[in-house]
Amino acid sequence: MRLVRDAVAAEPVEPLVMKGKSDPIPAFRLIEVTTGVAGVARRLDSPMVGRDRPLAQLRQAFDAAVADRSCQLFTVLGAPGVGKSRLVAEFLGAVQSEATVLRGRCLPYGEGITFFPVGEVVKEAAGLDDFDAPEEIERKICAVLGDEERGAACATLAQLFGAADHDSAAEETFWAVRRFLESVAQTGPLVVVFDDIQWGEPTFLDLIEHIADWSRDAPILVLCMARPELLDDRPVWGGGKFNAATILLERLSDDDCAELIANLLRRAALPDEARVRILEAAEGTPLFVEEMLSMLIDDGLLVLEGDRWIATGHLGGVSVPPTIQALLAARLDRLSDDERAVIQRAAVAGKQFHLGALTAMFDDDRGADVRSTVMSLVRRDLIGPDRSLLIGEDAFRFRHLLIRDAAYEAAPKAVRAELHERYAAWIVDVAGERVEEQEEIVAYHLERAYRLHEELGPLSDAARQVGLRAATHYAACGRRASERGDETAAATLFRHAADLLPEGNPDRPGMLYEVARAYGDTFEPRLAFAAADEAVHEAAAAGQTALGWLARLERSFAHQLLDPHGKSTQEIRDELAGAIASLEEAGDEAGLATAWRRRAEIEWMPCRFDSAAVAAARAVEHARRVGRRSLLEHALGIRSAAELFGSMRPDEMLASVESAAEEVGHEGLFGHILMVQRSACAAMSGDLDRARRCSDEATALAERIGVPFYVAASCEFRGDFELFAGDAAAAERAYRRQYEILDRLGDEGHKSTAAADLARALYRLDRLDEAETFARLALEIAAQDDLVSQASGRCARALVQAARGEHDDAIRSAREAVAIFEDAQSPVFQGTVWMTLAEVLRAAGRTDEAPGAARAALGLFERKGNEPAITSTNAFLRTLEA
Ligand SMILES: Nc1ncnc2c1ncn2[C@@H]1O[C@H](COP(=O)(O)OP(=O)(O)OP(=O)(O)O)[C@@H](O)[C@H]1O
Ligand SMILES: [Mg+2]
Repeated sequence: MRLVRDAVAAEPVEPLVMKGKSDPIPAFRLIEVTTGVAGVARRLDSPMVGRDRPLAQLRQAFDAAVADRSCQLFTVLGAPGVGKSRLVAEFLGAVQSEATVLRGRCLPYGEGITFFPVGEVVKEAAGLDDFDAPEEIERKICAVLGDEERGAACATLAQLFGAADHDSAAEETFWAVRRFLESVAQTGPLVVVFDDIQWGEPTFLDLIEHIADWSRDAPILVLCMARPELLDDRPVWGGGKFNAATILLERLSDDDCAELIANLLRRAALPDEARVRILEAAEGTPLFVEEMLSMLIDDGLLVLEGDRWIATGHLGGVSVPPTIQALLAARLDRLSDDERAVIQRAAVAGKQFHLGALTAMFDDDRGADVRSTVMSLVRRDLIGPDRSLLIGEDAFRFRHLLIRDAAYEAAPKAVRAELHERYAAWIVDVAGERVEEQEEIVAYHLERAYRLHEELGPLSDAARQVGLRAATHYAACGRRASERGDETAAATLFRHAADLLPEGNPDRPGMLYEVARAYGDTFEPRLAFAAADEAVHEAAAAGQTALGWLARLERSFAHQLLDPHGKSTQEIRDELAGAIASLEEAGDEAGLATAWRRRAEIEWMPCRFDSAAVAAARAVEHARRVGRRSLLEHALGIRSAAELFGSMRPDEMLASVESAAEEVGHEGLFGHILMVQRSACAAMSGDLDRARRCSDEATALAERIGVPFYVAASCEFRGDFELFAGDAAAAERAYRRQYEILDRLGDEGHKSTAAADLARALYRLDRLDEAETFARLALEIAAQDDLVSQASGRCARALVQAARGEHDDAIRSAREAVAIFEDAQSPVFQGTVWMTLAEVLRAAGRTDEAPGAARAALGLFERKGNEPAITSTNAFLRTLEA
């Protein structure tokens, strides 16, 4: 339907259930076909962008024809869809008041219609109708021609319409057509347009050159459009003539394309991901921009909401629109066998490729042939030279990613599988000792080869080996990424490795565990849970006990984030005890480092941060013994966080985190943690400017690491100190961003805290209804033993109640919050709830009890050394005294 929608009338019918397709396929009943129109009409309704220079060149050619009363031949060459017809339409619009315009086009099918395009031109000029009788045709044509030579020319031209019974020689027809056009041009400048002349018969092309060479004393611009393959048949088209010019219409710049997108969407905002995806796929071809966009909209991947477009899914894997596929397939169909063999190899190598790789992918030694075939593909404008990354190796790239995709799809799977393997071998070969840098690419190609073998049917032993080799390479890359601190990348790489290992392979449970761990460390609870669950089962089946414990821990932590009510902290404590015992028995230091880190994390819920710091210190010891940077980094990271939330004073905290940074370096995750800590210490000592600067930097670092959870965490700290400093609007912005990120991640565990914090900021902004909503939400989703959310949610609720005059309820809520934190080890959290109690007491007019609560808060803030909190509490106490 998409390929023919403008040429048919059709009505939708019930979707069809088809063999091999899981979903029903939309179907239509064909009612009518309109002949002579394109299946997909090109659109002219959005303003033309760019093209100033080619327009000026066209204008110049026209002016020359008029000024010299000469014939000018102007040819616009360009890839399909680049905008030849559009450019010419725009030009004709500008000259239509000064010239007669006649149009003819060549058709992609049918032999023996050599003069069809000229026929159209004559028909238009002479005003012929479809069913004119032969005499009528001749009469109308004669009326256009001048007196001399009239008879012969009339008869010859009339033959074009099958009206006469003898065929003229080509020269006669050439002469007659030329005379005819010259006659038309006697009354004023004439523009004769021929579109798609790459489909023209050789004799027709001769005719055009004849007109250009021989017409005299008549202002005629012959304007031709063609795709570059015109030069296959006519390498010297227009060459050697003084009155001929040919231009190659280039792709649009990215800026022009962005402008085009904006015009097509009538300036409604488009998500960046969609824009980037379209720009990448279209690479400057306006037709592809239009088609990609309309496909995304038709498929419901882009939806208009108000005045902005929303992406409803991941756009990365969006396929090539069928209209474009058809265009590209037609270009590839024209290739010779040699050319096809070369372009298939290039397509396997990728968008960019080196000549040596192509040669290596052939069985025999045909280096010289490959080079000359590559050059012919360059002439066809399918590929172009590129900057080489290897010394002494010429590099090329596909003109268009979509051409690569089409060439790739066109190769049989068995061929592709073989070529991927050979390409991997070539990389290993050229990379030599530096193969590590290329290992991910090697892994990718082996994986592709394996997957294709798999699709083709039962696997041979050799094919299975290819899969295992791919897994080994991916695993090595994953471990390196993890050591670099790039757990996001590590998770994906381990996932590939695990998926390539067949069930029952002894390495599979461990690999699945690595996937779960990496996703756990980047706080992607959904993905972590799924992988951990698999790991638990497979470790049990393989009898890998210690690993099984670690996998269970990963699963439980993810579970608790996904569904805070579904997994109690006590259950996890029991698991931790079991895990630590089993790992100690196995002498698994790396496992112990992880388990003790989890042991520290479990203290988060009851807010026992000083105990957490002790457990974290044990994790640090084990990690040091293993000597793996990533383990140590995580252990030190959790220790720093425990110190921040616990009782340690700012100067001590800072010293501790600085020395940890000495140990594991300032890169990646630890750089971020260091910055958060600096920001928090600056805030506590009252240096807000520095606190904000460090906080901005911490957020930027988190964004660079690409772990959304860390961004959320830095927002939380920002909100906390902005609220102490009295900037509720800034706090609200920070908390809201935190909330939105966690909501997207499905991290319900942390989201409840974010909701409570957001409620407190909203209260300070006098947005009571919203504050109440978020306070309620926080208490609804928070687990019973999640003390921060429980207490903080109650504080928010208490403040709202007090503002509404429900003083008894307010005081009850605040007292509950105080009680919840009775055993906590967090002076700042505890001080905050005491201050809330003080506030609601004062609001209730209980000025006898309020000072006691405020002084309790003051003591806690002083213990931690949080200056802004001390200052505001003192101020509060003074207002009570006054
Ligand atoms: N500069 C431009 N600004 C806005 N839209 C453009 C521009 N150039 C082309 N387009 C749009 O892109 C689509 C393709 O352009 P056009 O039909 O002119 O391509 P073409 O080069 O003639 O392709 P073909 O080789 O298939 O004939 C059209 O819908 C056209 O309106
Ligand atoms: Mg065109």
